[in-house]
This record gives sequence, structure tokens and C-alpha cells, in this order.
Amino acid sequence: MNWDIQLFKLNFDEKETTAVSNVVKGGWLSMGEKIKEFENSFSRFLGKDIFCSAVTNCTAALHLSLLALGVKKGDEVIIPALTFVANANVVKVLGAIPVLADCKSTDDWNMSIKSLESKITARTKAIIVVHYAGYPCSDISKIAQFCKSRKIGLIEDVAHAPGAFVSNKACGVWGDIGCFSFFSNKNLSIGEGGMVSTSDQELNDKIRFLRSHGMTSLTLDRHKGRSISYDVAHPGLNYRMDEIRASLGLVQLAKLKEGNQKRKILTERYRSNLSKSSIVIPFTKQPINSSSAYHILPILLPKDTDRESIIKTLKEERIQSSIHYPPFWNFSAYAGQFSPKDAPVVAQICNHQLTLPLFPSMTEKEVDKVTNTLLRALR
Ligand SMILES: Cc1ncc(COP(=O)(O)O)c(C=O)c1O
Repeated sequence: MNWDIQLFKLNFDEKETTAVSNVVKGGWLSMGEKIKEFENSFSRFLGKDIFCSAVTNCTAALHLSLLALGVKKGDEVIIPALTFVANANVVKVLGAIPVLADCKSTDDWNMSIKSLESKITARTKAIIVVHYAGYPCSDISKIAQFCKSRKIGLIEDVAHAPGAFVSNKACGVWGDIGCFSFFSNKNLSIGEGGMVSTSDQELNDKIRFLRSHGMTSLTLDRHKGRSISYDVAHPGLNYRMDEIRASLGLVQLAKLKEGNQKRKILTERYRSNLSKSSIVIPFTKQPINSSSAYHILPILLPKDTDRESIIKTLKEERIQSSIHYPPFWNFSAYAGQFSPKDAPVVAQICNHQLTLPLFPSMTEKEVDKVTNTLLRALR
């Protein structure tokens, strides 16, 4: 489809081309100096004394995090009901049980501590909190304290929220572990990629071993003559990132703050254009001293609206839209395992949610075209 206004566009220019070209010319592609530079830059970006490990993608980051926290068969992991299916999948592949927590309200679509507390059992081993659409979870501080007091692992899924913060503290450093995504459509895009953040040295060591087959040295160490062999203390995986992606990550990281700021301006335009309509743009109230990464532009259509026909009208104007997220309990792999009653607010949102285009190079005129088309479709 030849979209006039895509859901998302890469924020790339010649800097990314040069970065990739330099790595290719340099002759070293697998984990090396660029990875180190990217990890160090990302650590500084998140705050003080944070360890970062670059990985293949956010799903790998989540898998490694659960392994590092010792989640095993039969354990329960609480996840948001409104999320990408990766959260449920990583729990399932370990033989553990995903338990759904509801969101706070039809305005605050992030996990509610009240719902979370009601889902705790003796088998709860970990909790995954998502900062949905880039908006920081308003209960994150309370959830972090709660998890600490109960010795429950807390993983922040920061796939939507690089650069977001609450109380001047970055999303991704509130819990035991933060998991970032650098998939093509994310605020920091490198194709496929992710980052694990933690301030816990022990967890960091485990994650780095698990990321690379459990090996005690890298191919680069042997290439540089720093070691001639290696040991494998624990079985691990290969979730390493390569130098090409790390070089893209460094360029994209430098652009992130400005990109998020542009997203903010466009989001405000959307809010203003739709303020007198029956459409709800969630997250009208945000925690004090917090900032969103404005990853996507989710809206809630009025209850009696036919979502399919709205999507069709937008498509006729060559405007792409999406749904974040179709409830994963309806997927074949999860059929019969959850009930909408597990998360009634999310169940209500899912049927009327729609995502509109948002990306840093989008113009205000394009936002106007989207909102005018939407308002016409609603009439
Ligand atoms: C909330 C959330 N978590 C995890 C993921 C998985 O990220 P990745 O594609 O990097 O594995 C995504 C991807 O869209 C996501 O939106």
C-alpha cells in the first residue's frame, strides 16, 4: 500500500549510512568496540551506576531477565493485560504462568498497583510493567517499593519509553531490570535490537553470561589475543547484538531527545484538534516531574463507533492506522487461558482502541489531515 501518511517513518539521514559504512570498512562485525560504546552511552543516558547490555531484541532482553531472576516452571509472573504478546510469550516458554493485571482507568492505561496487589499469590516470582505508548507508569515508584518489600522481581518493559522519566528518574531503572526495544518502529530504531539495564552487578553478570552461550570470553578477546580459550560455567544463549546495529544505535541515541520532543509537539496538536470531539486521547494526567517518550498516539473511539469503518475511511485517504493491542487472550495460542474478567478495564479499551500516525518528521499539516479525516468518519 502506498500510504500518504504512514504510521511510522524512520528518523534516518546520511549519519546512519556513514556509521554503517564505517563499520563495514573497519572489518569487524560481531560484538566489539561499537557495542561497548553503545552500552556505555546508554548507561550514561539512563543515569548513574547503571549497567547496560546490548541484545538481539527486547524479547531476548525479557527472556534473559526472567532467567536471571530465576523464574522457572510453575512460577507466576504478573504482566499487564494491555501489552504486546511478547510479555506473555517469554513467561510461557519458561513454563511459568502469566497472570494479567488490569490498567488503572480509561485515562491511565498503565498497570494499576491495586489490580497487581489483588493478583499476588505465594507463587508470584516477578512482575513485568510496561510504560505503554511511552507514558511512564504512574504507580512505578509504589510498585518498586512493593516488589522490594515482597522480594518479587520487577522488570520494566521500556520498549515504548526510552527517554521517559518519573520524578527525574529514567524509566528502565526503577525495577531490578529494564528491557528496551530498538525495533524499526521504535523511538530509537536499528532494525532489530534491544538493551538490558540494571544497577545490580550480580544480575548484570548473569545477563552477560546468558547473552553469550555462558562463555567466559568473546571472539573479540581471542582476536585481540586477550585469551586463548574459554569456559562455560552455565548453559546460555546467543542474544548478542552486532557492530552494525550498535553503530546505528549510537547515531539514533544522539537523536532521541529531539525526536521525543517533536513527538510531544505533534501529540499536543492531536490533543488540541480532538479536544472537542467524543474521542479520548488517554494519559491526560501524568505524574509530577515526569515526561513521556510519546512513542505512539493511541485513541479511544466512542463505544458505539464501528472501528473497522473508521480504519477503512482513513485507508481511503491513504492514512495508516493500527491497534495497540489486540487482546492476546483471543490468539489461538492463548485461547481459553484468560478471561476479559481478569482485566475488565483493558477488555473495554481493547475493542475501541485505535493508533494514529506519529513520528518525528511528521508535519502539523499531516496531523490536521489525520484528525479532519477521523472527525469526518465519525460523523
Ligand atoms: C511493549 C513491548 N514489549 C516488547 C516488545 C518486543 O520487542 P522486540 O520486537 O524488540 O523483541 C514490543 C515490540 O513491539 C513491545 O511493544
